Amino acid sequence: MIKIGFIGTGNMAKALIRNIKNADNCCIIASDKNQDKLSKAEKELEISTTKSNKELAQESEIIFLCVKPKDIAAVLEEIREIAENKVIISIAAGVKISSIEKIIGNDRKVVRVMPNVNCIVGETAAAYSLNKNIRNKDKEIINKLLNSAGLALEINEEKMDAVTALSGSGPAFVAFLIDIFVNAGIKYGLSKEDSYKLAVQTFYGTGSLLKKKKITIEKLIEMVSSPGGTTVAGREVLEDSDINKIIDKTIEAAIKRSKELGKNG
Ligand SMILES: NC(=O)c1ccc[n+]([C@@H]2O[C@H](COP(=O)([O-])OP(=O)(O)OC[C@H]3O[C@@H](n4cnc5c(N)ncnc54)[C@H](OP(=O)(O)O)[C@@H]3O)[C@@H](O)[C@H]2O)c1
Repeated sequence: MIKIGFIGTGNMAKALIRNIKNADNCCIIASDKNQDKLSKAEKELEISTTKSNKELAQESEIIFLCVKPKDIAAVLEEIREIAENKVIISIAAGVKISSIEKIIGNDRKVVRVMPNVNCIVGETAAAYSLNKNIRNKDKEIINKLLNSAGLALEINEEKMDAVTALSGSGPAFVAFLIDIFVNAGIKYGLSKEDSYKLAVQTFYGTGSLLKKKKITIEKLIEMVSSPGGTTVAGREVLEDSDINKIIDKTIEAAIKRSKELGKNG
């Protein structure tokens, strides 16, 4: 049974714990300087907890750092002496592997993950990068743990800004688009409730269809587009619009900001 520790028990940590606990035979312990959050996590998740990050680090083989980026350095200072041979997995947005290594040493095992908020329902789209000290045996476990919360792809760290924009911020962008659909539905006669339910289910179902049936996007568009029909009429408006440019600029702006924030990370 693998011993996994979580430092920080906010929303992201709790979501990860739920998924990992359901998927694997593991022993989970969590710590938090915030006693309220720690007690809630203990009750809700039925895990053991401690106020001490050091005690947690001592007891764990894998340590997830789930505090805000500004608190990462302090936590690393605290567990530095104990971290040898343990796998440190940081989910802090914008905090680079090299910054972590600078504090705990470049001979330690470090993983940087960029999950997204859909982790809460076990549907995250995450990417992760490993430092050179991660062994094949660690890789297998890390991949299994992270994929238990949805999808997790191993990538080169230099691509992390693109991941941050596309899938990290992505849920907000997609929610924004869903809202446009909802408002259009209301404008053309649907109740707010019905329009919301239909729009959310349409985005959810489309993603699910693409994922589960492994059909291409082009094929799906073709499946819905009867010649002379409603979809073709709507597509003509989309295809003549600036929507490609707008989405491209959205992702570009998020990447730019991620790079700016990462300069100090
Ligand atoms: N939300 C997202 O969509 C998303 C996506 C990707 C990555 N992330 C990353 O996920 C991480 C966690 O985010 P979150 O929203 O879950 O954060 P959160 O709700 O603020 O949870 C962090 C917890 O850690 C505690 N903490 C702070 N310093 C500590 C220390 N030295 N020792 C022990 N505990 C400490 C905090 O206590 P206090 O509340 O008292 O400070 C808080 O309870 C962040 O680094 C974020 O960048 C989030």
